[in-house]
Amino acid sequence: MSQSPVAALWRLRPYLRPYRKQLIIMVTAALVVEAADIAVPLVTKSVIDGAIAHHERGLLLPLGLLAIALGALSAGLSLIRRWVQGNAVANMEKDIRDDLYAHLQRLEPAFHDEWQSGQLLSRATTDLGTIRRFMGFGIVFLFISTMTFTAVSALLISLNWWLGLITMAMFVPVFVFCLRFEKKYKVLARRAQDQDGDLTTLVEEAATGVRVLKALGRAPEAADTHYAEADQLSRTRIAMAGVVGWFWSVLTLVPNAVIALAVVLGAVAVSKHAMTVGGLVAYITLGLQLVWPVEALGYILASGEEAATAAQRVVEIFDTDPAITSEAADEEEDHPERVVVPLTAEPRLPAPGHPSIRGVTGGSAPGGKTDHGPDLGHAAHVLFDNVSFSYPGDRRPVLSEVNLEVTRGETLVLTGATGSGKTTLLYLVPRLADVSGGRVLLAGRDVRDIPLPQLRQRVACGFEEATLFSASVRENVTFGAADATEEEIEAALIAAQASFVFELPWGLDTRIGEQGMALSGGQRQRVALARAILSRPEVLILDDPLSALDVQTEERVTRALHEILAGVTAIVVAHRPSTVALGDRVALLDDGVIAAVGSHRELMATDPVYANLMTMEEVAR
Ligand SMILES: Nc1ncnc2c1ncn2[C@@H]1O[C@H](COP(=O)(O)OP(=O)(O)OP(=O)(O)O)[C@@H](O)[C@H]1O
Ligand SMILES: [Mg+2]
Repeated sequence: MSQSPVAALWRLRPYLRPYRKQLIIMVTAALVVEAADIAVPLVTKSVIDGAIAHHERGLLLPLGLLAIALGALSAGLSLIRRWVQGNAVANMEKDIRDDLYAHLQRLEPAFHDEWQSGQLLSRATTDLGTIRRFMGFGIVFLFISTMTFTAVSALLISLNWWLGLITMAMFVPVFVFCLRFEKKYKVLARRAQDQDGDLTTLVEEAATGVRVLKALGRAPEAADTHYAEADQLSRTRIAMAGVVGWFWSVLTLVPNAVIALAVVLGAVAVSKHAMTVGGLVAYITLGLQLVWPVEALGYILASGEEAATAAQRVVEIFDTDPAITSEAADEEEDHPERVVVPLTAEPRLPAPGHPSIRGVTGGSAPGGKTDHGPDLGHAAHVLFDNVSFSYPGDRRPVLSEVNLEVTRGETLVLTGATGSGKTTLLYLVPRLADVSGGRVLLAGRDVRDIPLPQLRQRVACGFEEATLFSASVRENVTFGAADATEEEIEAALIAAQASFVFELPWGLDTRIGEQGMALSGGQRQRVALARAILSRPEVLILDDPLSALDVQTEERVTRALHEILAGVTAIVVAHRPSTVALGDRVALLDDGVIAAVGSHRELMATDPVYANLMTMEEVAR
């Protein structure tokens, strides 16, 4: 259950702490400005009752100058306050935004699968802006208008006690009205923010999926869905405007009615000599000063309500704890050593068919040992030990009792029908997901005991959907290896058959657009492959890295990969026989179970499911 909006906003108060000084300056400046504004009517009273009534002309100039000085002070301090305020709240917003971004990065892919990206976007942008506006203006003015209201009320009562009390009594319904407004507005504000998030998701999907929408002729339907959502949001906003408008009109009416009444009652008081003329003028001018704090109350309450619901939405993200962490391991190990495998080919260890190569459970393991020796975990570079996995909220197991071992320097090819769980199995090594049962060992150590940054430095991944970032080719390729030399970058690009990038208008400095949209699918895959190669990991994981390439390019990349993968422990998902041949061994995954392990040739000869799968691939080509 999420927190109440106000409690959520209150929880964000530590973000104001670094700006305490600025907050004090803001409040002090605003208080002095208010005091100066209140003092002006009192000066007016002295001018009327003293200088004018008693013909003391000598007082006019000093009192006039005093009024001007008060006005100038008020203007100067307002300027300072706004400047300090602008700086402080912009920095505070940045602090929250940085923390939110860092938190989103810590959350595992499963969280991002579950949340609409538009909801995250609107929380990280619109909601933070709403909080900033309230923290900057709302809080300060809530304080200032309360102070002004109290001070002015006290002054009014001191000028004429019964008139003052009648005036104050008229404000009681305003406060009752405020409470009712708060209740209504809270619900509408939250609804508007959630609808804004849904709409952002739609706009984002329409932008990224524009090709599919156009190609399938679904643009009108998508537009209708968008219009319907936008319509809902505008209805909510109109309802909000209605509530605010109604509230504000009452807030404007009451002080003006109070002033009108004060004029009538004040005139009676003056005629009965219970009040001076100057006193009445001061009373009315001071009374007018109540209009602003009461009106501001409307704005403050509305923006406070919006900020509180926005804070509730932001805190909901902060309250989602990352399921995948390595806190214990982080404490143990402060200095992760980086194991770098050179790009150049090294003798392959061990040779294909090495006796330590093993695959058990649910299938044949030709030439493999089947006993668990005590040091086996250490001999294996990557070991899936009785691994099972199901996605959160889905009881169906995607992987069951997977036992698989990849020795140092070996290339294991993982193959199997679509949906058999290959990608899921790969996710478990760099802990993009955590096992539901069993364990995954990297060089004899449970991956959950290795600090995450270290683990992810040791294991590099290249995925089927080659995600490139809006940056230059160079920045994209060196993403996991910031210290790579020019020669290394070139070698990686050449190995991945991505030499086409040298022909781009600005060579490696060419920006490759949002998600690399300007490149073809195969080109993107090759740049992404170069990136995975360049990070020189201990373990390289490639999920169908060549799926978008034509046969000739695939063969060239396969040959180059063959050279590169020598010396690197690799797990490669592949379907085509030519890529499968890249591996020392092949593991066949069938509906979440390792159905067979062996060399391509062995499996072709002994495993009908495998032979069938490969033949179909061959025919498909
Ligand atoms: N985020 C997810 N949440 C729930 N179920 C998922 C999720 N991702 C995948 N699955 C399910 O897990 C199963 C295995 O998916 P996975 O992506 O591992 O298959 P794959 O072997 O890589 O398939 P392909 O060859 O098509 O890439 C599928 O049945 C899929 O529906
Ligand atoms: Mg997959």
